[in-house]
Amino acid sequence: NTSEENSGNLKKQLAKLFEASLRETVPSEHDVEPLVAACTAKFGDYQCNNAMSLWSKIKGKNTDFKGPPAVGQAIMKNLPPSEMIESCSVAGPGFVNVVLSKTWLAEKIQNMLVDGIDTWAPKFSIKRAVVDFSSPNIAKEMHVGHLRSTIIGDTLARMLEFSKVDVLRRNHVGDWGTQFGMLIEFLFEKFPNFEDVNERAIGDLQAFYKASKQRFDTDSAFKERAQKAVVLPPGWRTQVPPSMAQICDISRKEFDKVYQRLGVHLEEKGESFYNPFIPGVIEGLSNKGLVQESEGARVIFIEGINIPLIVVKSDGGYNYASTDLAALWYRLNEDKAEWIIYVTDVGQQQHFDMVFKAAKRAGWLPAGDSMFPKTSHVGFGLVLGDDGKRFRTRATEVVRLVDLLDEAKTRSKAALVERGKAEEWTEEELEQTAEAIGYGAIKYADLKNNRLTNYTFNYDRCLMIRKSGKDIEELKKIGVLVLAHPDERALGLHLLQFAETVEEACTNLLPNVLCEYLYNLSEYFTKFYSNCQVVGSAEETSRLLLCEATAVVMRKCFFLLGIVPVYKI
Ligand code: ARG
Repeated sequence: NTSEENSGNLKKQLAKLFEASLRETVPSEHDVEPLVAACTAKFGDYQCNNAMSLWSKIKGKNTDFKGPPAVGQAIMKNLPPSEMIESCSVAGPGFVNVVLSKTWLAEKIQNMLVDGIDTWAPKFSIKRAVVDFSSPNIAKEMHVGHLRSTIIGDTLARMLEFSKVDVLRRNHVGDWGTQFGMLIEFLFEKFPNFEDVNERAIGDLQAFYKASKQRFDTDSAFKERAQKAVVLPPGWRTQVPPSMAQICDISRKEFDKVYQRLGVHLEEKGESFYNPFIPGVIEGLSNKGLVQESEGARVIFIEGINIPLIVVKSDGGYNYASTDLAALWYRLNEDKAEWIIYVTDVGQQQHFDMVFKAAKRAGWLPAGDSMFPKTSHVGFGLVLGDDGKRFRTRATEVVRLVDLLDEAKTRSKAALVERGKAEEWTEEELEQTAEAIGYGAIKYADLKNNRLTNYTFNYDRCLMIRKSGKDIEELKKIGVLVLAHPDERALGLHLLQFAETVEEACTNLLPNVLCEYLYNLSEYFTKFYSNCQVVGSAEETSRLLLCEATAVVMRKCFFLLGIVPVYKI
């Protein structure tokens, strides 16, 4: 199992109770894993589904049970007493349904309000992880694929950080390889005296890249020189024209603009950083018998995959795979990371599959997938335009990210102006809200992955406490939270399911699980809010506490998704 005990996690706590019951019910079967899942409100809040599979194991053997329903009854009877559970029942072929105690739920929520939401964070057994994300290529435009990687990677990093894992947020920028040699050669030609290269001299970096690519594709002598340029030995840095460093800086500045707008933090360790480690790593793999000669190149054959992983090209140069092997080695041995997560489009799935399998063969990683240290590739689909084709502008160029972000902001600003906010708010408020909504929408759209409907978060309403004029700190001390109304109970239960939701989203690297949770939270809240009067009611104190708990959980969800919440609208 990847995570440890977590007191906020309802599912895990129930699973423990069922585990004890299963041991009691069928002592002959050892280590039966309890199957516990949240279920539809009609029968209960959670369900244990072990009876049927257990029956198929014990029937025919010496057993007194007469069928799965009887096994279910016994599982129910053998549950250790717990304040958590209000009632149980057995349905159909032995499903054990559990209704949780309202009082217990209310108490847990109140504890969270006092002790803070961090008490609901997942607990992992690992100390450090690498999230390799964004990773655009120097001198090339950052495209929507990199944007998706940036957004998804940031959320994964945030979830792990929330779980107290030390996260190395790595920007594995493409700052080496053939395209780099090509640029170096082109620079030699254009600026033979290594004069300073600045934005004005280079002009548009995209155009500069294109011109050099054209040279590369049409002049074979140029091509050869470019390819040689990247076979330079370690220490190449000193042989590279200083102007190249300037190209990198121009590029970096462009990337940073995007990161700044999105509020994403990354630490650059580009491909070239790992160059000095490549020869040693490949030698190590050779010594283990993994590397073979094939058509002049040195390759690793991977079982079940019909193409080999090329680690040294036939011209003696290194490639993307050589770098990734060295980077993986470095992350395991120098960074001491136990979980290394790569976020790219699905097109690179096979590449990572081969790199991971090679690492397993080399004994760098355990053979099984559930043990640490481990590697994961988070692949995402391409971003498509309205026409269902790859997202591009009319000029068939890839859409510039800055333009995309501008567009999102402009649109949300226009919508706000249309609603009369220009008169109501200061220009600064209007700008900030437009950015929060515009960028937030892009992020949410990227993360949710399975919902298309428009949504409005009634965040403002959760903050009713402000309007009520009450002091929340005081209420937390003296007030008692009660989940009497069905809509209060439903909201309360959903709040408590935050812990298991983040844990699932984090363990399975699925941010959309958290999006879905947040979406449902706003629906539960709306329902509660429409049916239960808060301010001025007899239940005011309890309901204000429930609102506050909702605000705390919502704020955490927004934070984990990297979305800036809007406080008034
Ligand atoms: N630079 C690559 C690209 O733009 C992504 C790098 C992903 N990370 C890695 N370790 N290979 O496609």
